[in-house]
Amino acid sequence: MADRLPADPLRHHGDREVGEGLVDLAVNVRVAQPPEWLRDVLAAGLADLAAYPDATAATAAVAEHHGRPTDDVLVTAGAAEAFTLLAHALRPEEVHRGVVVHPQFTEPEVALSVAGHRVDRVLLDENTGFVLDPASVPDDADLVVVGNPTNPTSVLHPAHDLRRLARRGRVVVVDEAFMDAVPGEPESLAGERLPGVVVVRSLTKTWGLAGLRAGYLVGDAEVVARCAAVQPAWSVSSLALLATRACCTPRAVEEARLAAQVLTVHREHLVRRLAHIGVHAVGPAAGPFVLVHVRHGQDVREALRRRGFAVRRGDTFPGLGPDWLRIAVRAPEVTDALVTALTDVLAQRSIV
Ligand SMILES: Cc1ncc(COP(=O)(O)O)c(C=O)c1O
Repeated sequence: MADRLPADPLRHHGDREVGEGLVDLAVNVRVAQPPEWLRDVLAAGLADLAAYPDATAATAAVAEHHGRPTDDVLVTAGAAEAFTLLAHALRPEEVHRGVVVHPQFTEPEVALSVAGHRVDRVLLDENTGFVLDPASVPDDADLVVVGNPTNPTSVLHPAHDLRRLARRGRVVVVDEAFMDAVPGEPESLAGERLPGVVVVRSLTKTWGLAGLRAGYLVGDAEVVARCAAVQPAWSVSSLALLATRACCTPRAVEEARLAAQVLTVHREHLVRRLAHIGVHAVGPAAGPFVLVHVRHGQDVREALRRRGFAVRRGDTFPGLGPDWLRIAVRAPEVTDALVTALTDVLAQRSIV
């Protein structure tokens, strides 16, 4: 029997869909483990765990990386903590209208709701390729959350459209957790000082650090300071701070850039192979995953699981239904094996 929508769909994430013996195409972390040089950095940091963490050096490293003053940066325990800090720093009684642009990663909406905000949704339309029209965001919204590139659509919104969202009296949160998977990061706002705009970044995806909890906020100094004021003391561990510094060095940034280029090639391979069997990915898009629409999506997903492949269900994202599936970009041989299995599944579906 088909499995049901989870009771709390906004709290459902790809990690719930992976399992023993399954090829993981549901989680978008790029590598199975952090690179060896990064593990060495972390291992060396174990000796200093007796001391409380000090975020000064990591904050300076992030600021330098993005060409920003340190007042514009707050290091956080992953992007997830950044959403929670924003939700508490911007108090519900002072936010007139908070808007989340969907479909997108659901934790920002969860964090806002838990903090007592009423959240309105702007639903992007599949007929326009889930591309953001800045005019679709209500004028009176004084808090707007948007992902770029967006999970799960992988649509990369042009920076000039996001800039159009910025205005006096409005906070715009741009979740760039996957931006370092886009070669050259052309649409990033992390290096720009724009009033009210804060960018959320993550080390999780590119560096295989989901378990460490490392990320940061970079943006309007006033908003950043308010987030810092509600952040628990020593929230970011000394190992996460070490990783943050290490991933901002020119060598690491170059490694990430090259990895993004490889990923782009692997992405094109996946999109091409899927198109060949009549499955079309949303696009043009960027990022380490693709979103596809297939008839009988739930059955297809379950049949793929039986063949050893876990792809991410789309129906827990506002604005998507069970016929949407998100597939992680992996090496061509993994993609080829998936497409073989999917071809088989689709052939059987058409017989039914
Ligand atoms: C778009 C997006 N933003 C943020 C996160 C959370 O990142 P972190 O692990 O840094 O909390 C995720 C995790 O899946 C994500 O998909």
